[in-house]
Amino acid sequence: MKIIRQNKDLKKFKNKINSISFVPTMGGLHKGHESLIKEALKKNRNVVVSIFVNPKQFNSKNDFDTYPRNFKKDVKILKKLGVKYLYYPKYRDIFSFKTKNKIYLHTFAKKLCGKYRPEHFKGVLNVVNRFLELLNPKYLYLGKKDFQQLILIKKHIQKNKIKTLVISCNTIRDQYSLPYSSRNFNLNKEERKLASKVFMLLKKEKNKIKRQKPKKINLLNVKKKVFNIGILI
Ligand code: PAF
Repeated sequence: MKIIRQNKDLKKFKNKINSISFVPTMGGLHKGHESLIKEALKKNRNVVVSIFVNPKQFNSKNDFDTYPRNFKKDVKILKKLGVKYLYYPKYRDIFSFKTKNKIYLHTFAKKLCGKYRPEHFKGVLNVVNRFLELLNPKYLYLGKKDFQQLILIKKHIQKNKIKTLVISCNTIRDQYSLPYSSRNFNLNKEERKLASKVFMLLKKEKNKIKRQKPKKINLLNVKKKVFNIGILI
């Protein structure tokens, strides 16, 4: 596997290859990433996986510092999957050039997760846009797990008429129905159990709503039930 670090090496590599399938990650690779990569490899051997923990998408320094990093293990996983190219840039390679596109942040960024992580999606779009300008991939692989991120990236691509096609991949869950996620490495057994209980509860409530088709959905009631599980915000 070739590890590309600097933009001058990236340029050389790009001149040799005409169609790239790109899987952006922040490392801490898990089965969810593996499934994105496998999907990409089915279509195209020229898959580029990036590992870059983007400081601009974190709302606190502590969250950035404690984000799970395990480069050696990640490299092992990528080699086993048969990935030919790993893009592992430094901060200045990503953020020191002037971009062609303007970040398009749809108002959806203010909803859901965006309510509680004010700069997060702007930071995600900033880095993803830079990746797209640097790599100009034909396909971009993203997980449906990060639904809001997926929608916002698609909107940015559409608005800027970027030619890259987004391929959205299904969420992969562990034996407790918990979606694979790098941050789960930071959870202990009890916290994992709690998180999986939340998923089970929400699934049950969703099915009940689908079945009963009530005129008004009482989300406050669902929220109370989540708190009763023992989740504290
Ligand atoms: O989903 C992620 O891991 C990140 O938000 C991404 C898309 C790699 C951008 O840093």
